[in-house]
Amino acid sequence: MRRQTVAIVGLGSIGGIAAVCLAAAGRHDIVACVRRPLDRLTLERGEETTEVTLRALTDPAAATPVDWVLLCTKTHATASTAPWLKRLCGPATKVAVLQNGIDQVASVAPLAGGATVFPVIVYTNAERLGPDRVRFNAVGNDDYVVADDAAGRAFAELFAGTPLRVRLSEDFKTLLWRKLLMNVAANPISALTLQRQSVFRRPDVHALCMDVLAEAVAVGRAEGAKLAPDEAQRIMTQLLGYSPDLGTSMYFDRLAGRPLETAIPGAIVAAGERHGIATPIIRALLTLLKAVSDAAGKS
Ligand SMILES: NC(=O)c1ccc[n+]([C@@H]2O[C@H](COP(=O)([O-])OP(=O)(O)OC[C@H]3O[C@@H](n4cnc5c(N)ncnc54)[C@H](OP(=O)(O)O)[C@@H]3O)[C@@H](O)[C@H]2O)c1
Repeated sequence: MRRQTVAIVGLGSIGGIAAVCLAAAGRHDIVACVRRPLDRLTLERGEETTEVTLRALTDPAAATPVDWVLLCTKTHATASTAPWLKRLCGPATKVAVLQNGIDQVASVAPLAGGATVFPVIVYTNAERLGPDRVRFNAVGNDDYVVADDAAGRAFAELFAGTPLRVRLSEDFKTLLWRKLLMNVAANPISALTLQRQSVFRRPDVHALCMDVLAEAVAVGRAEGAKLAPDEAQRIMTQLLGYSPDLGTSMYFDRLAGRPLETAIPGAIVAAGERHGIATPIIRALLTLLKAVSDAAGKS
């Protein structure tokens, strides 16, 4: 692959890890598109620390079309990146959306000037330790999963030579839904109860999670995800395998008074409506999360 220009929009936990790993590998030119000036970024990974210098832009007017955009904001910030995408994207640009959810292409493509837009499932566990410092906790066998198509293969090639492990999947939709199932089981309840994973050990909360998952699995199947007969139980088993002290991203966002990624339950409610499948429990969680999220920062 020839040297590519890669713009990273959203230099938080996930964008920060991608930026440091690509910059340290030195195969491509990295541009950080940020809201506050930044000239270096440090990554902690196990006992290792990697520091890189970055070319950062704070004004979208200074941006020019690039080969790649990695869009790494939270889902509710996508619309606010429109000025960046307008300047960075042309028909030859590829936009990889590193966000949770299932509606990445629908929300980003209208802002991306004819670029190729595709989702990336992110399995990495990442933590932002400060404006210029991130921690990368590798979990499982993959950091990113993409569809096994031309854009996915190009994305895998982009990260060659970095520690980030990219897997190509021939059944990307099913994996996207599995990730969404885990998110919808864990995030809303931990954020609403303001409790870490230990809350899922309560029998009543466990039962609530199973009801949430039953609704979500029915919608996922209607959308074409090939979910196992015991999918809900498998997700619950995985969830209970995590340390009780771990928090979820929505829990940390609520603790910090930030808006919440309501698009996670919102995508399931909307898909349920498309298929005539009722999702009363997820809808109730969504209403409560929206109320909390809208109040964030106002108190
Ligand atoms: N963290 C994880 O372990 C993890 C794992 C899997 C998936 N995910 C998903 O990955 C996505 C990103 O999550 P994250 O944890 O990396 O979020 P994050 O740490 O909150 O970072 C988001 C970044 O986006 C920036 N941003 C927001 N609006 C912007 C704009 N208009 N222009 C430029 N930058 C903008 C924010 O900038 P400021 O610094 O200025 O606020 C922040 O640095 C989410 O969908 C999340 O659910 C996260």
